[in-house]
Amino acid sequence: MPVTAPLPHLVPSSPPDEQTDRSFLRDVLAGLGAPRKHLSAKYFYDRRGSELFEAITRLPEYYPTRTELAILDHDGPEIAAGLPPGAALVEFGSGSTAKVRRLLPHLTDLAAYVPIDVSEEFLRSEAEELGRDFPRLRIEPVAADFTKPVTLPDDLKDAPKVGFFPGSTIGNFEPETAAALLGSFARTLGAGATLVVGIDLVKDKAVLEAAYDDSAGVTAAFNLNLLTRINRDLGADFDLNGFAHQAFFDENLGRIEMHLVSRRSQLVTVAGVPFHFASGETIHTENSYKYTVAGFRALARSAGWEHARVWTDPDGLFSVHALTASTIRRH
Ligand code: AVJ
Repeated sequence: MPVTAPLPHLVPSSPPDEQTDRSFLRDVLAGLGAPRKHLSAKYFYDRRGSELFEAITRLPEYYPTRTELAILDHDGPEIAAGLPPGAALVEFGSGSTAKVRRLLPHLTDLAAYVPIDVSEEFLRSEAEELGRDFPRLRIEPVAADFTKPVTLPDDLKDAPKVGFFPGSTIGNFEPETAAALLGSFARTLGAGATLVVGIDLVKDKAVLEAAYDDSAGVTAAFNLNLLTRINRDLGADFDLNGFAHQAFFDENLGRIEMHLVSRRSQLVTVAGVPFHFASGETIHTENSYKYTVAGFRALARSAGWEHARVWTDPDGLFSVHALTASTIRRH
């Protein structure tokens, strides 16, 4: 049966392109004007950037995606067994449905699957495709920014809620912001909810650094694509040969940092605004925080989530946690 059912909650709440460009421009001008230049990692994902990220997930050095998928495959039945029957499964920033596809076969009595994503077009195509493969599943996409509390479809208010946040996306946020985000999930899902979340673990520095500086140069291309995007969308004149990819693990901060290093002293113009780069000066483009199991538990607890279970791969590279919302805190 072709799934052509309307997607009732797919409200056009994402901003029009023009407004998106304006906040992009504002963020870029502010970031490049700061004493230590920086850009937000959320801007990596234009069409080309999303393709490059997909390529990263298939690299031999980039262990997180395949390891998380292996955990979901191996422990999916056990993870699912701990979830309440008749639940609404809410995925934050659903992106590709590859991860949830590993859980769905074990969750046969879901009230609905609610993918939340800013990209309406992406949501629609992914939801339709998923609907073809799981014809009995009710899919209720919500177009929204998952970093803010989201109103769930009204007809799901009595269903137990299970949040799903795979991919260690939380690692892109400062620990304080990550805690606020977990608190926001608790408010969206309500007291008594469960959250299944994927977290990359602290490990050997060489393994971590190889994952973010692969030998094929795909991560370098992903990082540099941000400058290509700024050139195209904001009328800038970055010389792509004038910058080099850099990634290192800061053991004290527990994070991978990615930078673009200026190869020489140079002037770059963005929307008519000139920015000077000294030779060796960097633009900080991404943080990817790594946690220990105990460290993540403490972070989650500070946001009102009690630890229930954790699953890891045999090498201890990656972890999937099940948490329960004890109390709902106000901001
Ligand atoms: C999508 C945020 C999980 O931090 O590993 C991959 C992004 N950056 N290689 C990560 C990324 C460089 C990725 N996350």
